[in-house]
Amino acid sequence: MKVLIVLNAYQRDGAQVGKAGRLKEELEKLGAEVEVARNFRLADVVNGEADSQYRCKCVFLDKDKSAAYLLEKAGCILYNSARAMELCDDKMLTHAALCGAGICMPHTIYAPLCYYPDAPLPEDFLKGVGESLGYPLVAKLCYGSLGSGVFLIDDYNALCMFESKYKLQAHLYQQFITPAGTDVRCIVVGGKLICSMKRVNKSDFRSNVELGGHGERFKADKEMTAMCERAASVLGLDYCGIDVLLDNDGRKYLCEVNSNAFFAEAEKVCGVNIAKKFAELIISE
Ligand SMILES: Nc1ncnc2c1ncn2[C@@H]1O[C@H](COP(=O)(O)OP(=O)(O)OP(=O)(O)O)[C@@H](O)[C@H]1O
Ligand SMILES: [Mg+2]
Repeated sequence: MKVLIVLNAYQRDGAQVGKAGRLKEELEKLGAEVEVARNFRLADVVNGEADSQYRCKCVFLDKDKSAAYLLEKAGCILYNSARAMELCDDKMLTHAALCGAGICMPHTIYAPLCYYPDAPLPEDFLKGVGESLGYPLVAKLCYGSLGSGVFLIDDYNALCMFESKYKLQAHLYQQFITPAGTDVRCIVVGGKLICSMKRVNKSDFRSNVELGGHGERFKADKEMTAMCERAASVLGLDYCGIDVLLDNDGRKYLCEVNSNAFFAEAEKVCGVNIAKKFAELIISE
C-alpha cells in the first residue's frame, strides 16, 4: 500500500517535519510504501484531475484547505478529510459545528466580520460582550495557532483596543474558565480516545507546550472520553487532539479541536505510541 505524507510547501524543519518522520517510520513497519511530499506537488492536479500516483491514502499535515480539496478531487483518501480539516481550521466554525451536539463549550460570542478599515467601533456590541461574559474574558483569532492568537482581556478599555486592532481578522469572544494555565489534551484516533495528558503552564494562562506549558500524566474519565469521541465523530475526524478545560468544580468544557495536533509531548508523557495507532488506522481501513 502506498501512503503519501503531505507537508506544507514552505516548511523546512520543526515539529511538523518530525511528526511526518514518526508517521513514516510506523507506516513502513506495517509494510506501507511511504513518500513524504510538499504540496508544491499539487501543481500537477489540473482541473481536479491527476495521474494515478494520487489515488492513494494521504496523511495531510498542512492546514491548506484548497490543497486538501484538490487532493481529494485527484482521488486521494485524506487523513483527515478536507472538510474535517476545514471545520477545525476556523475556531468559530468548529464551535458552530459542535453546537447542539450535546457538548459543553465555554460561552462563546461570534464577532461579526468587518471589511472596512475605518469602520467605527461597535460600542453597543462590545458592551454586551463584557456584560455577558464578564471580565477577564478570552478573545481568540479564528485562525490562530500554538496559542499565538489567544488573548486575555481585562476590561472594557482592553476590549476596545483588541477590537480596533483585530477587527479585520475573524475572531470570537469567550468565557474565561479558571483555573488558568491548565487544560487536558486528549488524542482521539479512529473514534477512540487513546491517551490524555494534563498541560500546565505556570507563567501564562495558555497551557500550550510551545508557550512554556508541560505535560503531566492524566487519565480521562468516562465523561471526558465520551465528550472527545463525540466531538471527533461530529467533525468527521480520523485523528485529532482535543483541548478540554476543567473548572474548579470539575466541569468540563471543550476548548478547541486540532485536526493536526502534534503528538511528541503526549507520546513522551503518556507512554503511548500515537504514531503507531494512527498508522494502524490508515493501513486497516
Ligand atoms: N475560554 C478559555 N478559558 C481559559 N483558558 C483558555 C480558554 N481558551 C483557551 N484557553 C487557554 O489558551 C490555550 C490556547 O487556546 P486554544 O487551544 O483555543 O488555541 P490554540 O492552541 O492557539 O490553537 P491551536 O491548538 O490550533 O494551535 C488553551 O490551551 C488554554 O490553556
Ligand atoms: Mg490549542
